[in-house]
Amino acid sequence: MKNRYAVILVAGQGTRMKSKLKKELHPILGRPMIQYVLDALEPTSIEKTVSIVGHSKEEVKQTIGNVSEYVTQEEQLGTGHAVIQAKELLQDKAGTTIVVCGDTPLITAETFEKLFEHHESSQSKATILTTKLENPTGYGRVVRNEHNGVEKIVEHKDASDIERNINEINTGTYCFDNEALFEALAKVGNDNVQGEYYVTDVIEILKQQNDKVSAYVVEDANETIGINDKVALAEASKIMQRRINEAHLRNGVTILDPENTYISAEVSIEADATIYPGSVISGQTTIDSETHIGPNSEISNSIIGEAAHIRQSVVSNSKIGNKVKIGPYAHIRPETTIKDDVKIGNFVEVKKSEIAQGTKVSHLSYIGDASLGEEVNIGSGAVTVNYDGSNKHNTVIGDQAFIGCNVNLIAPVTIENGGFVAAGSTITKDVPEESLAFGRAKQVNKEGYAKKLMNKK
Ligand code: UD1
Ligand code: CA
Repeated sequence: MKNRYAVILVAGQGTRMKSKLKKELHPILGRPMIQYVLDALEPTSIEKTVSIVGHSKEEVKQTIGNVSEYVTQEEQLGTGHAVIQAKELLQDKAGTTIVVCGDTPLITAETFEKLFEHHESSQSKATILTTKLENPTGYGRVVRNEHNGVEKIVEHKDASDIERNINEINTGTYCFDNEALFEALAKVGNDNVQGEYYVTDVIEILKQQNDKVSAYVVEDANETIGINDKVALAEASKIMQRRINEAHLRNGVTILDPENTYISAEVSIEADATIYPGSVISGQTTIDSETHIGPNSEISNSIIGEAAHIRQSVVSNSKIGNKVKIGPYAHIRPETTIKDDVKIGNFVEVKKSEIAQGTKVSHLSYIGDASLGEEVNIGSGAVTVNYDGSNKHNTVIGDQAFIGCNVNLIAPVTIENGGFVAAGSTITKDVPEESLAFGRAKQVNKEGYAKKLMNKK
């Protein structure tokens, strides 16, 4: 047991985001930023996590889930005031408490672990995670004494001109000796420019009691960006995008233009898959080897088989087999299963359907609530008429059936194996095995009548 505890601050309003959505819930590559913080803390063996919630607390709790306990900070009087809220749940614990802001999503698990280890091995009462920035504007500065020891943290707004020249900043993450933390917090006042109780003041309080305070400097300043506005959000998204894409490239995935490819953290892609520019891949998605995605495809929560090609298309919550060709401009909607060697061509929409091996839906069709057998051919413009205005109905099409162009299949209806539906038919009755069905008006030719019509005009 390492006796490690965590306090995550998520109560503030985040006014600088100018958004109705709570700051820590803003997505980075499709996931709420708070999720990254939780994921990075996960491997560090924390026994108890307490999240401090306030603004949008129900949404925040729902996102964080049961990996944390919660305390409400009714009024947001500052980060120090926020940490005090965890007192009842943590004060009697002997050990180390890490305090993390919910708006610093790029700190990695390795960095959290190193901070813990630095803190524990140096036997400090507090260890600040710091970094050096070319432009430290807005961040709290780490003030050191002539022996290079940490003296205090001063907030940008409270800093003197000389202090503002310091480029070592407080990342907002610290490890504390748990008991020392809550004792010191009781002494924090709010005599500063913002009239807030700052957790950063704990450092100076401990220092004045001659407690040991240290800093762990993280080399990669990209990890420590604090997201206060949409400019920082865009910057952080770029950094995360590069981090994820680089990991895929190192694993053997080909990404033609990584700056224009957006892959969420949960996506898994096999080596030798190729991702073309403009593609957005998110959620619980897996992509097998030799598959080509894009250009400009959007894949979410889907399983894509080997050597499939998905061009300029949208696929969501579906399962796509090996060597399937989709697009350009196709839409595969949720709960669709497409088996191997199927072709879904341009301007085809498929919804909640199963399509068996070798079937072709090549152009301009709607397939909804349907089950298509093997090696079926669906002609251009054929439509499953699944909705009667109040209910959805199923269409079943057997193996090797042939559906001609511009056919309406009025569901519920079954075309049995080898059934052949003539082009332009509207089918309202089942078609038996290997039968030919016509369901269209008989053609009438009136000789010379066209000329007569034209003359009338
Ligand atoms: C804070 C630090 C600053 C550091 C920076 C790093 C303080 C006083 N300042 O400043 O030194 O450089 O982070 O990014 O701590 N929150 C609450 N309750 C509150 C106030 C804030 O839960 O009453 C939460 C917010 O939701 C946010 C986090 O605490 O997730 C940090 O608050 P924020 O206002 O963003 O602090 P900064 O001004 O960025
Ligand atoms: Ca912040």
